[in-house]
Amino acid sequence: MVVMKGKILTMLKKRQGDFVSGQSICDSLGVSRTAVWKHVNQLKEDGYQVESVPRKGYRIISSPDVLTSEEIVPLLDTDFIGRNVINHHEVESTNLTAKAEGRSGCVDGTVVTTEHQTGGRGRSGRSWSSSPGEAVQMSIVLRPGTPPATAPPITQIGAAAVAVTLEAMGFAPKVKWPNDVLISGKKVCGILTEMTCELDRIDFIVMGIGINVNVKAFPKPVDEVATSLLLEGGRSLDRRKIAAEVLNRFEPLYRGYLKGNGKTYLEICRRLSWLEGKEISFEKDGITVTATAGDIDEEGRLEVHFPGGSSEKLLSGEVHL
Ligand code: BTN
Repeated sequence: MVVMKGKILTMLKKRQGDFVSGQSICDSLGVSRTAVWKHVNQLKEDGYQVESVPRKGYRIISSPDVLTSEEIVPLLDTDFIGRNVINHHEVESTNLTAKAEGRSGCVDGTVVTTEHQTGGRGRSGRSWSSSPGEAVQMSIVLRPGTPPATAPPITQIGAAAVAVTLEAMGFAPKVKWPNDVLISGKKVCGILTEMTCELDRIDFIVMGIGINVNVKAFPKPVDEVATSLLLEGGRSLDRRKIAAEVLNRFEPLYRGYLKGNGKTYLEICRRLSWLEGKEISFEKDGITVTATAGDIDEEGRLEVHFPGGSSEKLLSGEVHL
């Protein structure tokens, strides 16, 4: 049922606003006229504006801003990232769904999207929430086939992909190592990367990306630390284009990293580093310590300089200003 609706939608979208006759849909997909009519009505319920004219057929007038396969895949120029999009209107967490898909053997680069998470998860056991339809919430399943030690930079590649996407849209994003993206010093995107692995090999990684796109307001005191593209830019933006562009920009950065010949993500994270030169604090052996953040090294580690003159490189973790 859902598959047939998707196929009809794809046929209509391919014609870019021109009419497709009901008969040609019936002939191509092997369904009755009544079935086509029912599916078109469902598309209308999903938010598509479809015009039906006797003897001409159906044509799409407008599409809703939803993160479905039919809306995202046509905007991709990737080889494998996002070629399989699994969309659920509502889920507990796209990371949880993506992990289930990963365990069931979904293809490398599968992306799980949703309009609403009922139990969105953040780092360090925090929650991540957003009103329905306001954010980009998606999780990418990656099967790098490499040892677990290669995983930490992958999360920075996600942050770099989001940051350059926002930069190309005219925003001035910063990357807060390892993987938050900020605008005006407030968080606009968070990334939660989870890994399932054997001792010597990653089985799969799930990288969950949450971007506050059309969030109109944050409750207090969250509004002091979080922002959205709507609040920063003053207008609503198309979530489909943002999701697709992040995936388009992620693939070459990720591929370069896996091949060992691409450190472009590092150049981006360094160029847009929010922390460099700032006083930070973080947990070390169960104690909160303070230091000055330095550069990000060739392995994506953050150099920190302690007041006594010694230095250290952090591989991953959470730092606070
Ligand atoms: C953080 O900054 O603490 C990470 C937030 C990650 C949120 C995203 S939204 C999509 C994916 N699904 C989740 O449950 N979390 C991530």
